[in-house]
Amino acid sequence: MTGQSVAVIGLGGIGGSLAAALQAAGRHAVLCCARRPLDRLILDHPEGREEVSPPVATTPEGLSPVDWVALCTKAQDSAAAAPWLRVLCGPATRVAVLQNGIGHAARLGGVVPPERVVPAIVYFNGERLGDGHLRLRRVTECDMAVPDDEAGRGFAALLAGSLVGAHPAPDFVTRAWRKLLINIVANPLTAITRQRQQVLRRDDIRALGLALLEEAVAVGRAEGAELPGDAARAVWALLMTYPAEAGTSMYQDALAGRPLEIEALTGTVVAAAERHGIPVPQNRAMLALLRAVSDAAG
Ligand SMILES: NC(=O)c1ccc[n+]([C@@H]2O[C@H](COP(=O)([O-])OP(=O)(O)OC[C@H]3O[C@@H](n4cnc5c(N)ncnc54)[C@H](OP(=O)(O)O)[C@@H]3O)[C@@H](O)[C@H]2O)c1
Repeated sequence: MTGQSVAVIGLGGIGGSLAAALQAAGRHAVLCCARRPLDRLILDHPEGREEVSPPVATTPEGLSPVDWVALCTKAQDSAAAAPWLRVLCGPATRVAVLQNGIGHAARLGGVVPPERVVPAIVYFNGERLGDGHLRLRRVTECDMAVPDDEAGRGFAALLAGSLVGAHPAPDFVTRAWRKLLINIVANPLTAITRQRQQVLRRDDIRALGLALLEEAVAVGRAEGAELPGDAARAVWALLMTYPAEAGTSMYQDALAGRPLEIEALTGTVVAAAERHGIPVPQNRAMLALLRAVSDAAG
């Protein structure tokens, strides 16, 4: 697949890295959609550095439909991206949503038909070092997972030959829930305590974290994820392998007084629990507390 037109909305850690990787690969026409002008993108990655200057639009006015859109804002900014999507999406445009959580298509509020949305679970780490300056770190062999369907395979083909790849995964629902399980403990607990992952080493926080996970595992199973009996403990054990001094994106957002991505994480667990009639009191409490933190910021 060569010569596609690709618009990347949101040039933060993930979108900036993706746009730079696609532009450096030189196979497609890349357009960056940002709130502020940018002269260039610098991407530091394990093999070196790329410096590229793709075109940047700061308003949707005058733009035309493209083959692919990659939506890379935080989940809570999806609605604000609607003006971009309305202009950039034609009848054949596919929209990859590179965001945490589940239910990516629903976040687009009907602006894009769900069958043209490709949800992407992001495993790579994209850090914004400055405006337009990104650092890409690979955490696993797989940079991103997408559903193993025609649209997902199309997104994987789009990225082929670039610095970031997408892997069509037959077990996408299970993978999405596994990532969500990590995010519904690490992010809320670090954000609400305003402490890095060191806080997860406390016995009382461990007990709370496991309770949050047990509830969410029951919901994930009801949603079709294949999660074994020890899934909660396995997620906790994985978290204990992460550096104690590491933060989380929600921790950083809480410290900076920015709105939190809580609806896309704990909010989707609580909403799915309601659909299935599963009690999730601990997650419900966490949601209420972090909604209050987020609303005070916004
Ligand atoms: N970063 C990671 O390593 C990582 C890893 C896994 C998953 N994720 C997930 O990936 C998603 C993106 O995260 P991120 O770390 O890249 O976030 P981020 O660094 O905060 O970047 C989001 C970008 O979206 C831009 N934006 C927001 N509203 C916009 C609009 N209406 N039009 C144009 N641009 C807009 C922001 O612009 P401003 O610069 O103007 O604020 C910002 O540059 C999140 O769901 C996150 O949880 C991230």
